[in-house]
Amino acid sequence: MCGIIGYTGGSEALPVLIQGIRLLSYRGYDSAGVSVWRDGTLHVRRDPGRIEDLAPNWDPDTLAGTTGIGHTRWATHGVPNRVNAHPQPGGEGAVALVHNGIVENDLALRAELEAEGVEFASDTDTEILAQLFARAYDGDPVAAARTLLARCRGQFAVAIQHHDLPDTILAVRRGSPLLVGLGVRENLVASDLRPLVGRADRVIELAENDIAVVTPTTVVVHDESGAVVERAIAPIDHAVRDIGKDGYPHFMLKEMHEQPSRLYELVAARVDPEGTTLRFDDLGLDDDDWRRFQRIDLVGAGTGFHACQYGAYVLETLARIPARAVMAHEYGARDPVLGPDVLVIAVSQSGETMDTKVALQPALDAGAATLGVLNVRQSVIGRMVGGVLDMHAGPEIAVASTKAYTSMLTALLLLALKAAQARGRTQETLQPVAQALWELPAAVTRALERFEDAAQAARDIRRADHMLFLGRGADAVTALEGALKMKEISYIHAEGYPAGEMKHGPIALISREVPTVAIATPGPWRERMLGNVREVKARDGEIIVVATEDDADARALADFVLTVPALHPLVAPVVNVVPLQALAYETARLRGCDIDQPRNLAKTVTVQ
Ligand code: G6P
Repeated sequence: MCGIIGYTGGSEALPVLIQGIRLLSYRGYDSAGVSVWRDGTLHVRRDPGRIEDLAPNWDPDTLAGTTGIGHTRWATHGVPNRVNAHPQPGGEGAVALVHNGIVENDLALRAELEAEGVEFASDTDTEILAQLFARAYDGDPVAAARTLLARCRGQFAVAIQHHDLPDTILAVRRGSPLLVGLGVRENLVASDLRPLVGRADRVIELAENDIAVVTPTTVVVHDESGAVVERAIAPIDHAVRDIGKDGYPHFMLKEMHEQPSRLYELVAARVDPEGTTLRFDDLGLDDDDWRRFQRIDLVGAGTGFHACQYGAYVLETLARIPARAVMAHEYGARDPVLGPDVLVIAVSQSGETMDTKVALQPALDAGAATLGVLNVRQSVIGRMVGGVLDMHAGPEIAVASTKAYTSMLTALLLLALKAAQARGRTQETLQPVAQALWELPAAVTRALERFEDAAQAARDIRRADHMLFLGRGADAVTALEGALKMKEISYIHAEGYPAGEMKHGPIALISREVPTVAIATPGPWRERMLGNVREVKARDGEIIVVATEDDADARALADFVLTVPALHPLVAPVVNVVPLQALAYETARLRGCDIDQPRNLAKTVTVQ
């Protein structure tokens, strides 16, 4: 979703802004733009499209200058076109402003400004911020920024230039993250760390309602009242440096292949090789807490929500605590019954998803215990929750989540083991699960070695318009995630269902043109899954089965078998999703889709 970059220093701003936009593009965007200050004028270029196509048309002579701001826009208010792209002008070009987030009282503000004679060119809420700032500015940029904070509701991170202020960028933050990167005689502003790495070596994370005035040699931060405040300066984590594709054609493929090492790191951090000792002292929860909880609610969005469903399943099965998964955006709406004996777990790769952040609020208000299963500890959600369980997935760039998903499942299973142990479940029950976790890296490696099987099946289904994915028990969620991967990146309409539901509706869809994928690895539900497979066959449906390598029944029934090693049935969903990731990847590749940045999707959805 939208991204912000700003630069002020001794170098030409345009190349820094273009590179920043490139590094922000993983978040998903449909248009981009820049503004550069020169000789008292703000020179703006902005267009719909990808930065690779736009940048060659941005003339370095027209856009010469050493202070500028840039933006990647993911459309919310108004279609992706030039007028709606950022930077948005205010005060007939006196102001250029880029914005992440949403102004919630935009209609009232727009009407008010129109009544005062302001003519709006775009459909965006961002232009309201730009016009409001331009009207409020009388030589004091901090006062004008305070007007934005006082008048606008919602979440917004903005970077602003004014034509009267050479070498100056103003950064204002409410709700959405915003960072100031400190370099040598140059400073930057950005909505996340990636575009800062390599230029800045230290970073200030702006607090809620902060206003920063940034020049090449100074950064002065004010709070909402206008008072100058000190904010902590942290070194930039060089682990995020140089995220490349390492020779893979797509980030998604690279990230799928990182799964074995990521899972190893996560398992090794939490459980010993014998599967007896679990290390969870850092979560702020002790055994009494685990015994005290009457219920666990798991909230997340997209892939994170699927992980929540799995988490609820294993927490209930292993730890015998009532647990449920709720889509984050639906959580507040149901007015959940909450109190100190409820634990609310937010599951989020980015730690920034607005729906998940908002879902946590009622839990915090009610004094419920909170925990984040996160990939970014230093994130908006990371700061809200009582404890963070780090999923150890490493930076995930492809919009379609792969390694973060398998890490989420594994982290939640480890947590369920911990809860079960604290609640007195026997070692005989838990140890086989804990030991199976150690088998995961090798099992996932083996599943990845069978990529060609998925490629073959993909050649067969590439022209399908619709697909069904079926699974049972802990693997019902694998069906949902497999379908989500397929629709996200190949644009085939795919439905995921718990297989028991098939007879109650989806069976009407079965035909030769609608391929079905069934997950039928060993476990209490395998026989019934094979029953579902037979029902599909009996209706002439094409069927792809995820099964273990020695499964003769599956081979006899299926058009294609995607094989995985046998694992404990509660652990198997982590490996069973891997061939479905491969199937989606290969299908999208054959259909010529943009695998890493699928249309309309954003990696991090920072609006509700
Ligand atoms: C967006 C992405 C999904 C992701 C979801 C939740 O919708 O496109 O891939 O699963 O956000 O993201 P989170 O960072 O909270 O896990």
